This record gives sequence, structure tokens and C-alpha cells, in this order.
Amino acid sequence: MNSQSPTILVDNVSKNYGKIEALKNVSLEVEQGAIFGMLGPNGAGKTTLVKILSSLIKPTSGFASVAGFDVVKQTRLVRTIIGLAGQSAAVDENLTGRENLHLVARLYHMSRKESRTRAGELLEQFDLVESGDRAVKTYSGGMRRRLDLGASLVARPQVLFLDEPTTGLDPRSRNDLWGVIRELVRGGTTVLLTTQYLDEADQLADRITVIDQGAIIAEGTAAELKQRAGSEFISVQSEQEDQVSRTVEVLRKFSTEEPTVSTHDRRVTVSVSDGSSLLTGIVRELDAAAVAVTDLSMRQPTLDDVFLALTGRRAEVAEDEEGEEAARGDGDD
Ligand SMILES: Nc1ncnc2c1ncn2[C@@H]1O[C@H](COP(=O)(O)OP(=O)(O)OP(=O)(O)O)[C@@H](O)[C@H]1O
Ligand SMILES: [Mg+2]
Repeated sequence: MNSQSPTILVDNVSKNYGKIEALKNVSLEVEQGAIFGMLGPNGAGKTTLVKILSSLIKPTSGFASVAGFDVVKQTRLVRTIIGLAGQSAAVDENLTGRENLHLVARLYHMSRKESRTRAGELLEQFDLVESGDRAVKTYSGGMRRRLDLGASLVARPQVLFLDEPTTGLDPRSRNDLWGVIRELVRGGTTVLLTTQYLDEADQLADRITVIDQGAIIAEGTAAELKQRAGSEFISVQSEQEDQVSRTVEVLRKFSTEEPTVSTHDRRVTVSVSDGSSLLTGIVRELDAAAVAVTDLSMRQPTLDDVFLALTGRRAEVAEDEEGEEAARGDGDD
């Protein structure tokens, strides 16, 4: 054992909302300077854990601490050292980006001068200088997320909680934000991030915990989790219907698993262990079997695939039917 205690410690934490068990005996540790990824579908308990660690709600049982401070008994100290970028934006739509940052700085008791300087620094850091003096309601989704992240960093927190930082962003904005998060960790910040995307956890996190229905169901590096999900998928679409069976035969040779066929679009998919090394061989064999390929793609496993492998059922990712988040967003005026 290291003499230094973990920066984030969660020991046997449970949280009940009436009959709903949002968290069931969750335990985890995050060392200083690490990015810890918590991966799970809608309703898994991710936000509940983030709220407990930010001392916004109390666990029903168990113990949790951040930088050695008890999240139940030392809430004020916890709040001085953490930053939180929550799922629903905490910024004021009618103020400009600069005004929002300034306001947050003032809330942290910085002087006017300090607040002004800090707001300017953050606009710079998050590439918002040009839009800094426009009302936030004119911002794109990506700009809002960057501002949100900036606002959570005003007081230079040691520990940062990011609750689904890139959900709803286009690929480019996601990439930009990932870059910013990596930069932060280089500066020593400890990050716990929740996400529904395996590729996001893969991009950012040193270690990943998979949570489902309030319980941790797997732990490991992204590579380890992907391994369990069958590594990669190769999918081939052929031009003619009579070429589908030949495609199946070819792909069978490259995998220990049976290919699956989607008849309506003549697409055959198979999981393989090292896709990129097999591609050339597959193309060659398809050619030899006179299959006219209209599309050939390789994709990494998603949360969905990991879930299927771990639980035998699909993760309910994407838009939730109840639209809870959307409903909550209504009353912000
Ligand atoms: N205030 C509350 N009252 C009652 N139930 C709640 C409350 N907050 C959360 N829950 C329930 O607890 C469970 C976990 O919710 P939580 O918000 O932590 O999930 P999540 O993993 O963050 O999901 P999402 O990906 O949709 O944000 C869900 O079943 C949710 O409906
Ligand atoms: Mg959530």
C-alpha cells in the first residue's frame, strides 16, 4: 500500500431514492493526477455518484472522501477543492461568457480585478476570446460546454468532476474538448468523468469502471474492456444478394465467431481480434470469391457491445424515452 491515500475514495456507498436503489455498494479509488472514467447507460447512477462526491447529496450508507475530506462531514472543505461541470449547464444564458466567468469568480470571493483576470485567462484557454462578449444564448453546443468547463475551473480545483462532458457534441467539438481535458490533467488535476461512450473513456481515462443499475459490473483499461466485447467489428456490404453467402464464408475464416447477416442491406458483420491486420487479407479473399464490395468498414466496440458481452443485454444509450433531462431544462428562467 502507498502511504498516500487516494484523492477520491468511495467505500461501499449506496444511495436510495425511496425504493429506487440508485447506487448499490459502490467502491472505487482514484489516485492523484489520474483520469478515472465511469462508463454506463442512462439511469446507471453516474450523476448520483458525482453529486455525492461533490457533497450535493448524501449517501444512504457508506463513506466517501475527496482529497481526504469527508463528503458528508466536511462539505465546505470539499467544495473549495473541487470543480463540477454538471450535465445541465450551470451558466446564465443572458449573460456573456465573460460575465458568467466573472460572476463565478466573484462567488469564490475573488476581488474584482482578480475575477477579471481569471475570466480573461479562461476565455483564452477555452478558445472563447472572440465570443466572450456575446450572450451565451447565441453560443453553439460546443462553446457552451467549453464555457461550462471553464466555469468549473475558475477556482483552480484540485479535483474535477465532469458529468458526460461531450454528450450531444459533434465529433470535432468532442475532439477539441478532449484536448482541453488532457491538458488539465497534465497540470496535475485529478478527474473523474462519466460517459456513455466507450471511445471517450478510451481516449481519456487511465482506468474505466462500468456501472449498470447502480452497481459496478466491470473494471479495467479500455483495451481490457474491448477485449471482452470482441475487440473490433468488420462489416462488409456486397452489391448483389447472391454474394452474401460467399461473404459469410470469407469472413468466417477470419474469426472464431459466426458472422451475422443483415439481409435487407446485404451486410455481413463479424467480430475479430485485430481488425487492421486482417483487412488486406479479407479484401483479397472477397475479390477471389468474386464479391463486389459496396462498403467495407471496421469499427471499435461501443458501450453497447461491452454491455452485451458483460450482461447479455443491450445498453439503453441515447435519448431516454422519458425525456427527463429535457423536461428539467425547461424551468431555467
Ligand atoms: N432525485 C431523484 N429522485 C428519485 N430518483 C432519482 C433521483 N435522481 C436519480 N434518480 C434515479 O436514480 C437512478 C440513477 O440516476 P442517475 O441520474 O444517477 O443516472 P445516470 O447514470 O446519471 O443517467 P444519465 O446517463 O441518464 O444521466 C435512476 O433510476 C434515476 O431515475
Ligand atoms: Mg447523469
